[in-house]
Amino acid sequence: MASSSAFFIFILISYYSKKSYGEELNNKKFPKDFMFGAATASYQVEGAWNEDGKGENMWDHITHKVPSPIVNNDTGDVACDSYHKYKEDVAMLKEMGVDFYRFSLSWSRILPSGFDNEVNQLGVEHYRNLIKELRANNITPVVTIYHFDLPQTLQDLGGLQNDFFIDRFVDFARVCFREFGEDVKYWITFNEPWSICNIGYGFGWLNATAASPGIGEYLCSHNLLRAHAKAWRMYDEEFRNDQNGLLGITISGNWFEPSTNSSADIEASETLLQFTFGFYIHPIVHGDYPEVMRKNVDHRSALQGFSQSRLPKFTQDEVQLIQGTTDFLGINMYTSSLVTLEESDDISNISYTADTGVTSWQPEEWESSGSSWLKVYPKGARQLLKWLGTNYKGIKMIITENGYSDNDGELEDDKRISYYQRYLSNIRDAMEFDGVDLFGYTAWSLMDNFEWINGYSQKFGLYQVDFNSPNRTRTPKKSAKWYSKLTRTKCIVDDCTE
Ligand code: NOJ
Repeated sequence: MASSSAFFIFILISYYSKKSYGEELNNKKFPKDFMFGAATASYQVEGAWNEDGKGENMWDHITHKVPSPIVNNDTGDVACDSYHKYKEDVAMLKEMGVDFYRFSLSWSRILPSGFDNEVNQLGVEHYRNLIKELRANNITPVVTIYHFDLPQTLQDLGGLQNDFFIDRFVDFARVCFREFGEDVKYWITFNEPWSICNIGYGFGWLNATAASPGIGEYLCSHNLLRAHAKAWRMYDEEFRNDQNGLLGITISGNWFEPSTNSSADIEASETLLQFTFGFYIHPIVHGDYPEVMRKNVDHRSALQGFSQSRLPKFTQDEVQLIQGTTDFLGINMYTSSLVTLEESDDISNISYTADTGVTSWQPEEWESSGSSWLKVYPKGARQLLKWLGTNYKGIKMIITENGYSDNDGELEDDKRISYYQRYLSNIRDAMEFDGVDLFGYTAWSLMDNFEWINGYSQKFGLYQVDFNSPNRTRTPKKSAKWYSKLTRTKCIVDDCTE
């Protein structure tokens, strides 16, 4: 008896330890109601940058600078020409059998001045047509209100660093709910606050946007969080009863793996996760920034001679305003880093990174993709979901982006398939073994598109786009066929057990 139970325990341990390394592919189907989708964003695919009354946005502005800060001087002027070819895009989605399409609205296409004094009916009509086409094909629209393309008029006034942004965003969101809310049941206020604020106003997009390290990212985030919360409350008061939709936010970042088992490195991981994810989700759940952020930024600000912390404080009313303002949490995840504690004594260094007191890096030997930042580390996906699920219990989560880039956009993209398989396996593990409550997964991206400062040099698409042809011809890659099978079978391997 003793020996048989020892044997049983041995089997159990080896099963779970194998699972915990995340190397074997999970062969359980995803639940029946689990949704699979694909994503894009307005500036990255639409083109038609100055057609039908659209106003200039900050990416039109950046990409038209001379000299251009973008690889190969690429622009999104035409991009995938989705403004004209949206029916083809929907046909591709249909072909892949996805449940939903995540796309974003171009603010300056709908409100050319950035303000709500003039609504561009042709812009509104474009999105109505897209949504209609999706619904006709039984594909659910998941709509991001803001995905990086701020109207240039608002950027000129300081963009998200200026608190006038808060009400401008609420005005824009109101127009979106009013015009499209009858047919849209999933809304995402902001895509990747961390990137908007840290890359946009902290580091600067490789000199493409203004940078004010250690200050800009906090001002921007403070305004973004209040804008998100006000828009959520406005939806609640003015639209929810009639429209019955769900309003969430999409946060992003790496999984930060402690570089050793030391308690210092474990603390480094926790700190950076708080500074990356907690930065946004903590206020939304608990009404305020994570304790470690408050402590670190207050401390360094005081040493640096600031009479007030560089991390602004919410008033009591704002705490009330923000707390509880999300119906679900979107997560964009691609990669991981190793971390160690490295507190800086150099108080002249005013920056977010110095505030974290953590150094992170990606080891050379980690499998790479076609991009410098995207190392393939599938088990990070499970770890991150587990961390979010444990820290923010009870929140429904959806992966709003995950994907792999190469540089040539080849059709036989086995590496992309392998990436998807291994990441999805870890995601399935997180659901099965760690109790993570996930209701959907989104592949980034439906097709190759404008990858911000990297232009068209990095390709994430399930469909290849020929950027040399005026037609912007789309061709399914091997991964698109693989994804079609997944959406139909809910299974990432050849054969699944139920
Ligand atoms: C995050 C962004 O949301 C998306 O716009 C970008 O193309 C992908 N990640 C890949 O970098």
